[in-house]
Amino acid sequence: MEVRFPDIPAYHGWAKPLRLESTVEGLELIEGAVPAGLDGTWYRAGPDRQYPPMLGTDIFIDGEGMAHMFRIKDGVVSYRSRWVRNDRYMAQAKAGRSLFGLYRNRFTDDPSVKDVSGGTANTNMIFHDGRLLVLKEDDLPFEVDRDTLDPIGRYDFGGKVRATSLTAHPKWYPDDGRLLTYSYQARGDGTRDIVFYDIDDQGRILDEIWFEMPYASLVHDFAVTPNWAIFPFMPLITDVENLKRGGTFYEWHPNEQVVVALVKRGGTKEDIRWFRGPAGCLSHMMNAWEEGSTIHLDTCYYDGNCFPFFPTPDGQHVEGCPPFLSRLSFDLNSDGDGFARRRIINTPGEMPRTDDRYQGHECRHGFLIVGRGPDGSSAIGRIDLRSGEVTRWHPGPGASVHEPQFVARCPGAPEGDGWLLVIVNRLETNLSELAILDAQDVAAGPVARLYMPMRVRTTFHGTWVPGERLRSR
Ligand SMILES: [Fe+2]
Repeated sequence: MEVRFPDIPAYHGWAKPLRLESTVEGLELIEGAVPAGLDGTWYRAGPDRQYPPMLGTDIFIDGEGMAHMFRIKDGVVSYRSRWVRNDRYMAQAKAGRSLFGLYRNRFTDDPSVKDVSGGTANTNMIFHDGRLLVLKEDDLPFEVDRDTLDPIGRYDFGGKVRATSLTAHPKWYPDDGRLLTYSYQARGDGTRDIVFYDIDDQGRILDEIWFEMPYASLVHDFAVTPNWAIFPFMPLITDVENLKRGGTFYEWHPNEQVVVALVKRGGTKEDIRWFRGPAGCLSHMMNAWEEGSTIHLDTCYYDGNCFPFFPTPDGQHVEGCPPFLSRLSFDLNSDGDGFARRRIINTPGEMPRTDDRYQGHECRHGFLIVGRGPDGSSAIGRIDLRSGEVTRWHPGPGASVHEPQFVARCPGAPEGDGWLLVIVNRLETNLSELAILDAQDVAAGPVARLYMPMRVRTTFHGTWVPGERLRSR
């Protein structure tokens, strides 16, 4: 069957479908040296396009999953990328064409895949209970081999997870190996059900709290503290009747409010505290922590619709707006249901990360992508959350960066002491690089820069797994 991709913005420039599986043993050093103690594998996931889209249109968050891994040991970095060969991928490979229609709208799919999961496995990868899992929020995790990225299968925690999907943004705790996760629209598309799961290091469910969202919201990310799980609901809403008409999976409702649920860990749905604010979007969370009766949440906040390609119910496309890292504070002693919000930095920024070992506790060091300009270029920013000082590394004109990954210098290193791994897009040559930065001094530039003889199209999120954990089966 002829393969011809449409000329649409979602495929322009760097985003042109790549469709390439790569293996490079030993990436070539351009400058510096890979820190000798760096030992482990960085896994990331992103979307690509297996075949031209069935309906001729696409949005950047859709596309079949490509898993990426950088294995680092003894100063050498090797790279591998593989399609995630899940049910969707295999069905399409057999047909030789796309079989799934509009993003997550099952009513627009080819009838031959009505019983096949449409999950793309393109958003994040985690390592839990000895399993390497690729995640996408509309499906259950898909397990792949930690060394080869070969497919193993869809994973439902031995049948114990009753939700139809799990988020791509769980929180994982290195101390006890606990996995805190959730499912939204957990009984199917357009349902208001949401469930919080606390799962131990052997895949046993320790706590499971089901409750209802105020509307069938997008819930892309959440945050946890020792006592609370924080869920944001934003008015990107799914309406099954709209899906039946061939509409988009979400519609933007500017007259609805943002609602935030603070779910007490170990509690019940009756213990949930609800807070409300004007319509906007909370996308990725940097961190949350407790200070007396106040819960603070640092998140990228949009004052309007974060996904302008999802229109209002009457078909209006509202202007997109930039995200700003903001601190939301919820006072549990307050009688009202409002919350405080202030900007932490005045430059737009997204994909925030911390030293993951300290998630849920007040951190000093934050990292994110800052300042994506009209030319597509961007920089890595490091923020001192105590002083507010922001320092950055810009890889140069015509270059942009993926989400950074913090790696501790050694197991007992203080918070923020370590390295940042960053994939750099060289837009002028259409090739990528791997940069390794000192997380305490990003402005100094990379301690090592490695050449990649290909373009790493897009990756969303990923996880660092220390070599010792990978080798101990
Ligand atoms: Fe995300």
